[in-house]
Amino acid sequence: MIPYGKQFIIQEDIDAVIVTLESDYLTTGPKVKAFEEALGKYCEVKYCVAVSNGTAALHLASLVLLNKGDKVLTTPNSFLATSNAILYAGAKPIFVDIAEDGNIDLDLCEKELQKDPTIKAVYSVAFSGHMVEQQKLKYLRETYNVIILEDCAHAIGAKDADIKAASCTNSDVSILSFHPVKHMTTGEGGAITTNSKKIYEKLLILRNHGMVKTEEMKPWEYEMRELGFNYRITDMQCALGLSQLKRLDNFIDRRIAIAQKYDKAFLGTIVKPLYMYDGKSSYHLYVVKVDFTKTFLSKVDLFNILREKGIGIQLHYMPINKQPYYKNLGYGKEYTPVMDNYYEECFSLPMYPKMTVQEQTYVIKTLFEVLS
Ligand SMILES: Cc1ncc(COP(=O)(O)O)c(C=O)c1O
Repeated sequence: MIPYGKQFIIQEDIDAVIVTLESDYLTTGPKVKAFEEALGKYCEVKYCVAVSNGTAALHLASLVLLNKGDKVLTTPNSFLATSNAILYAGAKPIFVDIAEDGNIDLDLCEKELQKDPTIKAVYSVAFSGHMVEQQKLKYLRETYNVIILEDCAHAIGAKDADIKAASCTNSDVSILSFHPVKHMTTGEGGAITTNSKKIYEKLLILRNHGMVKTEEMKPWEYEMRELGFNYRITDMQCALGLSQLKRLDNFIDRRIAIAQKYDKAFLGTIVKPLYMYDGKSSYHLYVVKVDFTKTFLSKVDLFNILREKGIGIQLHYMPINKQPYYKNLGYGKEYTPVMDNYYEECFSLPMYPKMTVQEQTYVIKTLFEVLS
């Protein structure tokens, strides 16, 4: 099976993990600090906190940014974790339709902010790796005084002009994920980035049970000041992360090369790329649209036939607001025509750095064969 995404591990990565396994620290050790520093430097941001996964990153960030009952604008086109984190904090997601590139429509966000000045935050997602329009984000933040969280789980390494994903240039906090299908992996893993020392210090405490130890305390003493969690990441994971980070730019170059080949193959055909390469995406996903009202087969048929032929296309994402859990909370009836149409037409094609030219050629050829 050619999957839609997978990790790229080499002997150097394995060796890095083994060296750490044989060292004194398996957790809360020097590799965690080194990984956080290297990630922060890569993302061009002041502070970075590595955690056990991207969902934990979203949870901790939401506890710091939000209060119970706060209203938060967010996108239906993401993995469940983005809006679930708003619920974890006792706040209220408000789903806004998406724009043509699959990202939250920031013009619609502005309309919501004009209608309701009590809205506290915007949670955007750089969907598929395509940066959210930074100038508009800056404008919303400055004009409406809203908190901004950028979910960059898909977008490490992406750039909009000279603004890097997760640099928090126009946001309070960003989060990253290192799940194996992402650009680089730590097995499971995630990180929160911020330029605020205050937010950073709160995150460190919340990651470790809400516990504080100061120099004035007796040697055995610690104080629990918040209801925190164990969202620590291990030194083995961070050793793998450090090793992967060295090759991240190569991984991204490879993804861009694959995207450009897809772009070229689909030009003027029934298969429409969600967006053509424009320098603003680090391509976690390569998403295409097909108008199935003009084909002889349905989307279900296409999925089944391609999977039979060894091609693991996938759908990112089912609208979150239409999930049964959200429907039970009263969601699901929002006016989101772009998302609805997106859900009818879109799917993701295989893309990962290790994908060979032959594999990509097979995907393109088979897709056309099946569609025609
Ligand atoms: C946009 C987005 N945000 C958050 C997450 C959660 O990350 P993790 O799987 O590391 O918990 C994911 C994971 O797929 C994601 O795609």
